[in-house]
Order: sequence, then structure tokens, then C-alpha cells
Amino acid sequence: MKIIMLGAPGAGKGTQAKMIADKYGVPHISTGDIFRANIKEGTELGKKAKTYMDQGLLVPDELVVDLVVDRVKNPDCAKGYVLDGFPRTIPQAECLDKALSEMNDSMDYAINIDVPDDNIITRMGGRRACVGCGATYHVVNIPPKKEGICDRCGGELILRDDDKPETVKKRLDVYHEQTQPLIDYYTKKGIIKDVDGTKPMDDVFNAIVKILG
Ligand code: AP5
Ligand code: MG
Repeated sequence: MKIIMLGAPGAGKGTQAKMIADKYGVPHISTGDIFRANIKEGTELGKKAKTYMDQGLLVPDELVVDLVVDRVKNPDCAKGYVLDGFPRTIPQAECLDKALSEMNDSMDYAINIDVPDDNIITRMGGRRACVGCGATYHVVNIPPKKEGICDRCGGELILRDDDKPETVKKRLDVYHEQTQPLIDYYTKKGIIKDVDGTKPMDDVFNAIVKILG
């Protein structure tokens, strides 16, 4: 089961991808999480990525594509995987398709989590992310059991650097311009599945499980 999560920043891709990964026992591959881990460790990739991420811009395709293509060749991906935040541009999608077809493989589903922009802005300010395992919470919608502490691993919960309102606005513009065309791309391939992302988290998940079976 090979799944792509599509949706605007804050639509709930990470939240749902984690739930899918847990239920179906496949790895959750988030390019945003990979970059944030590299920033935390101070790697060259992290330093390069940070200059783009802090402005709400996409990291250049050449820094992302090989990283993901190598990752999906790992043995733990043999049963499938959930891609979260990749592909994000048409060239990234074309590179992924080319790499998969060379392995006689292809994606099964592109799940598009649909949430209007207005809704996104309010969600982002309340988001808290775990520095340890990357789990996401929302101070009002999905609060942790203990304020500031991750339910899953006990890690510290922080506000992401790119969740400032002006950066969120830029990320939404970039999404509409560069990532939304992927909905059309995967519609033409016949694998797009739309879900209403404005519903509560568990309802969104149930809708996804209905699709995946
Ligand atoms: P990335 O980390 O992928 O960020 P994003 O796409 O902007 O998406 P988010 O992680 O912000 O949102 P999400 O959809 O995962 O929502 P979440 O589940 O957290 O990328 C960050 C940056 O890295 C990019 O800007 C770019 O610079 C770079 N990058 C990454 N991949 C790249 C690529 N392939 N190419 C180039 N650059 C790349 O949910 C949001 C909030 O809402 C949370 O607080 C959550 O608790 C809450 N919530 C979730 N579901 C619900 C619900 N149903 N109801 C109410 N609240 C909910
Ligand atoms: Mg995310």
C-alpha cells in the first residue's frame, strides 16, 4: 500500500499519515520531519533547507528527490509507505513516477485532505509539535493530556518556526501555486481520493480507512 498525502499546510497530512502508518504497519515518510531533524542536528542539508523553510518557500527539488527515492528503496518500505509532504511540485512527482516505474512499481492512492485557507490559519497558531517524535497536537482541537508534554514519548511540545502567521500565509500561496496542480496530475492517473479535512480528526481517519479498506 503506497500512499501520497496531499493537502495545504496544516490540512492534517502529518496527523493522518501517523494514524495510517500505525494501523497498516507501514513507515511514515515526512520530508518536513526529515528536514527538521537535519536542522536540529546542524547538518549541511539542514542548514540549506532552513533558509527556504523559514521564508515559507519550498526547498529546491534537487535537495529532496534523491532523499525520498533512496528512502523508499529501504527494506522497511517493501510492504508500502505513506509519503507526507512529497511530492510537492510536478517535477518531484515526475521523478518519483520515473524511479518507481524503473522498479516496476507505482503509487496506489493520493489522498487529498481538503481544508479551506481560513480554517488553516486558525489551526496553525494552535499547533504544537513534539521535538522528540514529531507528533502533532493542537492546543484547543487536539490537546495533549499534560500541557507541553507529548502523550506518545514524553518529549517537549514546541511551536514550529514556520507557523508564524506571515509565514503561514506565504506557505499557503506557495501551496496554491506549486503543489495544488498535483491534484490534477493524480486525478489524470486515476488515484486521487478526496476527503473532507474540516471534520474532526477521527472522522477524517475513518473516511481514509474506508478508502484504503
Ligand atoms: P511540512 O512539514 O510538510 O509542512 P506543511 O506541508 O506546510 O504541512 P504541515 O506539516 O504544516 O501540516 P500538516 O498537513 O502535516 O498538518 P498537521 O497534521 O500538522 O513542510 C515544511 C517545509 O519543509 C515546507 O514549507 C518546505 O519549505 C519544506 N519541504 C517539505 N517537503 C518538501 C518538498 N517535498 N519539497 C520542497 N520543500 C519541502 O495538522 C495541523 C494542525 O491541525 C495540528 O495542530 C493538528 O493537531 C491540527 N489538526 C489536524 N487534524 C485536525 C482536524 N481534523 N481538526 C482539527 N484540527 C486538526
Ligand atoms: Mg506535517
